[in-house]
Amino acid sequence: MPTVIIDGAVYEYEGQPKLLQFCLDHGVELPHFCYHPAMSIPANCRQCLVEVGTPVRDRVTGELQRDEQGEPVVRFFPKLMTGCSQDLSDGMVVRTKRTSAVVEEAQRSNLEFLLINHPLDCPICDQAGHCPLQIQAYKYGPEGSRFEFRKVHKPKRVKLGPRVVLDAERCINCTRCTRFTEEVSGSHQLTIIARGVKNYPMTPPGVTFDEPYGMNVIDLCPVGALTSADFRFQARIWEMSSTPSITTTNAKGSNCDYWVRDNLVLRITPRQNMDVNAYWLPDEDRLDYKRFNEDRPAGPQVRGVDGPTDASWEQAYARAADLLRGTDGSAVLFLGSAHATLEDNYLLGRMAEALGAAPPSYISHVEPGHGDGWLRTDDRTPNTQGCERLGLQPIDEALLRARLQAGEIQAVYVLEDDPVAAGLFTEDELKDVPVILHYYNTTNRTLAVADVALPAAMVVETVGTYVNEDGHAQRVYPAKAIRGVNRTLRMQMGSSRADQHGTPFDRWYNEAHRIDCKPSWEILPAVAARLGHAMPYKGPKQVMAEVSGTVAAFTGATYEAMGLHGVRLQDVAEPV
Ligand code: SF4
Ligand code: FES
Repeated sequence: MPTVIIDGAVYEYEGQPKLLQFCLDHGVELPHFCYHPAMSIPANCRQCLVEVGTPVRDRVTGELQRDEQGEPVVRFFPKLMTGCSQDLSDGMVVRTKRTSAVVEEAQRSNLEFLLINHPLDCPICDQAGHCPLQIQAYKYGPEGSRFEFRKVHKPKRVKLGPRVVLDAERCINCTRCTRFTEEVSGSHQLTIIARGVKNYPMTPPGVTFDEPYGMNVIDLCPVGALTSADFRFQARIWEMSSTPSITTTNAKGSNCDYWVRDNLVLRITPRQNMDVNAYWLPDEDRLDYKRFNEDRPAGPQVRGVDGPTDASWEQAYARAADLLRGTDGSAVLFLGSAHATLEDNYLLGRMAEALGAAPPSYISHVEPGHGDGWLRTDDRTPNTQGCERLGLQPIDEALLRARLQAGEIQAVYVLEDDPVAAGLFTEDELKDVPVILHYYNTTNRTLAVADVALPAAMVVETVGTYVNEDGHAQRVYPAKAIRGVNRTLRMQMGSSRADQHGTPFDRWYNEAHRIDCKPSWEILPAVAARLGHAMPYKGPKQVMAEVSGTVAAFTGATYEAMGLHGVRLQDVAEPV
């Protein structure tokens, strides 16, 4: 196998990797700005410079030339080379900053050059704390600035489109943003304009930067030049926790991180998973954070003669059990949900089975034309595949209507969906039918006819599994705390410095941000227990272990197997 020597250590390699990527893959740090593995290599930032030498071969025989000690003679290129564009070759010798004073000086000088016109105002920059330029300036750059002249001024606070703001003075012209629109999204909505020190990215005349994947340039930008119109200056990076999870606006299950401060989700960024979304997220996934914070319920409610009234969880469970106890099991319609986790749908199926009802069905939320064959899908729910592989069927509206008219439906149990908004029922049709509803937001239209309204934990507040349209099962982790949950005791919940070192008496803390809701995997067993049906699960992990052990389609899909990147399920299904 061919080898390369980096700072004296020998590495074997296969294929034709580029030097920078090879270093990154093997834990050898090389500073860089313009390189991105998913795009072309312009080698324009010049930060990844290294010394490169190749063994000298005899021109006639092709044999390696050796010195008196028998070591191969290495001839170094007269100038430093950019690691990002350098192909590896057998016997190549590389010196990074760790073994070459020339490289160290070149990287320091390059950073000094990049910072000549860059504002040195990190304390007020939105990118501070997660800025590659700031980090690399500290590690590789000069101690201070020697530049004593007026810096070149360029446009600031330019709205390139509805979602992205440019501060051209901070741009180092790495062209990652323009290459993204040319090579990845294909929108061609950004280009570099002007010359020399005055150039910066801009939209062509008459064009607005509004493509559905445009916000990816914010993560790509290695400085604070491109920021989110929505998120900029909302929070410092160190005030937030980040939790790995998936997005739920569609059936792709793109991997993401949820960023939370004081139990409010403030932003959503992509998390690399080459089997699902690679490095990217559509803008609709990023802007989905508001529904986790706004219009959230204040606790359970039960309907009395005077309308809905606040109730304790105990009272709500008891009322739900009473309604179900007074109804023949076969006349209860159980509606599962492609918004809910696999575990919650499974438990709903167990409850329906225990009461002698038909297996749950689910409402399909398909919006033809919304999908783009990339990371947006026609299906606007994250778990249709999970429901189907559990054996749930999409609801048959004609059959449902006939059963309703024939009086065969005497109670409806809805798991995390909104059948009225989906057009499955009108409020009038449900007004005399007991309805038990697990719901997320007070904008849920079925709430108006719910007899028992049970606030359910959303994807950022629970633990569970979703199966994307390609049959990839992925688990989610709680990103924010809800009432009754101690963030420090939930070991898998992310925590920021403020969470770790703050107290509930700090000014930044607001108890109202901890929503009084519960995960459905807690609510369903509580209701079932009051009907005399024990569901003695300790939590969703145990539920998923049972599913993976009993439902053929989920064989092997345990939490351990899914880890942070999920597992591909086999293509078989078995009814619940
Ligand atoms: S705005 Fe950012 S990503 Fe775009 S060229 Fe400038 S530094 Fe690079
Ligand atoms: S990363 Fe190599 S030149 Fe920019």
